Amino acid sequence: MRAAGGLGAPQSADPQVLRAFATGKRVLVGVTGGIAAYKTCMIVSRLAQAGANVTVAMTEAATHFVTPLTFQSLSGFPVYTTAWEHIESKDPQHISLAKGLDLAIVAPATMDCLAKLAGGRTDDVVTLILSAVDRRVTPVVLAPAMNDVMWSQPSTQRNVKQLVDDGFYMVGPGEGWQACRTVGTGRMSEPEEILGSIRRFLERPKPKTRGK
Ligand SMILES: Cc1cc2nc3c(=O)[nH]c(=O)nc-3n(C[C@H](O)[C@H](O)[C@H](O)COP(=O)(O)O)c2cc1C
Repeated sequence: MRAAGGLGAPQSADPQVLRAFATGKRVLVGVTGGIAAYKTCMIVSRLAQAGANVTVAMTEAATHFVTPLTFQSLSGFPVYTTAWEHIESKDPQHISLAKGLDLAIVAPATMDCLAKLAGGRTDDVVTLILSAVDRRVTPVVLAPAMNDVMWSQPSTQRNVKQLVDDGFYMVGPGEGWQACRTVGTGRMSEPEEILGSIRRFLERPKPKTRGK
């Protein structure tokens, strides 16, 4: 499935082009526990090189695949791995992180993460921050990644449909070689495709925060 939640064909993600519209934009990158987390390093690096302020939040499972230090080094900002440690703010961390974002991406988005978001669960730092993101103001893009059997489970397909109905955007997953050494549908879209797909959101003027 491609671009289920209203994302059209990806645009160019050439570094110079990216810099023209990503500079100064606030982007949250949520990383959940899939092997494709290694590809997210490239997304974070490219956004940071383009001048975006990238905040990375990782589930506990994600830290088994890539270390928080890697994302901290690539983004130049602290990485959030728990809801309970307030690194920068006096406010509840998830509320302050969700405010004023131009864009949020979850890559990879696990089967578990899709289920939590579709059901309104918030028991890890990624889903908790996203629960406080007003999607009428800030687009949230999910890049699912999982084994093809996991992707084709009725529960996953139900959750994806629900998420699209709820206003989340989907990029991918793609088809091809999977970490489980099979070929099928479920691999995370390539960083270039994800960057090209989110470009339209970064090109928009900075969203106005609702309320006060
Ligand atoms: C080696 C390994 C690779 C995994 N890869 C994936 C994956 O690509 N996609 C997925 O949905 N789950 C994958 N899982 C399972 C998730 O890590 C597991 O469901 C975890 O609870 C997800 O937690 P999170 O959604 O909070 O990050 C993998 C597990 C292991 C041990």
